[in-house]
Amino acid sequence: MIKFDFKTYAKSFINEEEFNSLYSRKNEMIEKLKSYEMTGWMKPISPELVSDIKRCAKNIKDNYDCLVVIGIGGSFLGSYSFSKLFQKYFDDRSFSVIYAGTTLSSKYLEELQHHLDKKNFCINVISKSGSTMETTVTYQILKDLLRRKYSEEELKNRIIITTDKATGPLHEEAMVHNYQTFDIPENIGGRYSFLTAAHLLPLALNYNIDDIVEGYYEGERLIDIAYEYAVTRRLLFNQRKVVENFCVYEESMSAFTEWLKQLFGETEGKDGVGILPMSTIHTRDLHSLGQFVQEGNKILFETFIKVTNSDSFIEYNKQELHRINNIVLDSVVKAHYSGGVPCLEIEMTELDIENVSSLIYFFMLSAAFSAILFNVDPFNQPGVEVYKKEVKQALEK
Ligand code: PA5
Repeated sequence: MIKFDFKTYAKSFINEEEFNSLYSRKNEMIEKLKSYEMTGWMKPISPELVSDIKRCAKNIKDNYDCLVVIGIGGSFLGSYSFSKLFQKYFDDRSFSVIYAGTTLSSKYLEELQHHLDKKNFCINVISKSGSTMETTVTYQILKDLLRRKYSEEELKNRIIITTDKATGPLHEEAMVHNYQTFDIPENIGGRYSFLTAAHLLPLALNYNIDDIVEGYYEGERLIDIAYEYAVTRRLLFNQRKVVENFCVYEESMSAFTEWLKQLFGETEGKDGVGILPMSTIHTRDLHSLGQFVQEGNKILFETFIKVTNSDSFIEYNKQELHRINNIVLDSVVKAHYSGGVPCLEIEMTELDIENVSSLIYFFMLSAAFSAILFNVDPFNQPGVEVYKKEVKQALEK
């Protein structure tokens, strides 16, 4: 179960009349959202696709000891952040999933090559456009490594391409070499692609993706509250609260906040508007940014993600440590609110696959509504192209 409280520690910042007036437009906004072409993520996934993904994952696990997932942005953060949430902190499983493609660091890529040289690995390269630089560079380097070790025929077993069904360089590559492929549907953009093969294949290596699919669609029930969250954020923005700080109390949730930052940043940060997303991991960051939040420039509001129960029963002074962690969370909410920081709360009873999958759908809905409330297109990211053009020109000199 997931509970939401956007009122208790925010009410003094929200004008009730303004809230009611914007909230009363909920049905109009839902219709507006559904009218966008890029809402394939709100439609059902085909059971055949889920079976194909499971089959492919089983084949990978049966034959290799490592999968390298190559992708960036929306083609990586969904499955990466999800798996970080459920991975053990000290993991000694024999099968590993390595995420690459997010850096042009030569040190990293050289060390990765050395590491993989001794491994029996395969690759899943994921890019909707098929032309993203970081992904292309990493893919070429690792494909060269595979080529040095195996025949062209064997590469067909070891390379899986997830990309657009009909266009792009990776699509061409798959056609020419007859590599295995999965599609990213035309009507789903990167950061909204959680429930596609782009994320489900890497996740199927370690999780039951039926639970993910079920939890995700459970999130449909949260559409009203997702709109309430978007309205609350929008009204806080009107009060000069232009930064949203996502606060988590478990180190393993930090990658999830990276997913949130990308989702909200790319969805609503355009045309000179939007709320800047940031994140802090507590209690660590209470000893760094906590001072600013409590007493600094009042440009922030915070969204706390709380987990009620834990299956770790470690105690300190005869009290469950998890309970102490949550006491700190509740105290921080009160302290920050008293310091002029509105605090919104999302509480999962358990940190489990179903709850997190529902929450992912909830956040995707809220981000899209938030963009609509700012009158910007939720599904494009034209600003990202600007640096790419500069790089292209610089490389051509
Ligand atoms: O959310 C998005 O659309 C972006 O973050 C993309 O996922 C990212 O730029 C990677 O693009 P691609 O999948 O085309 O490689």
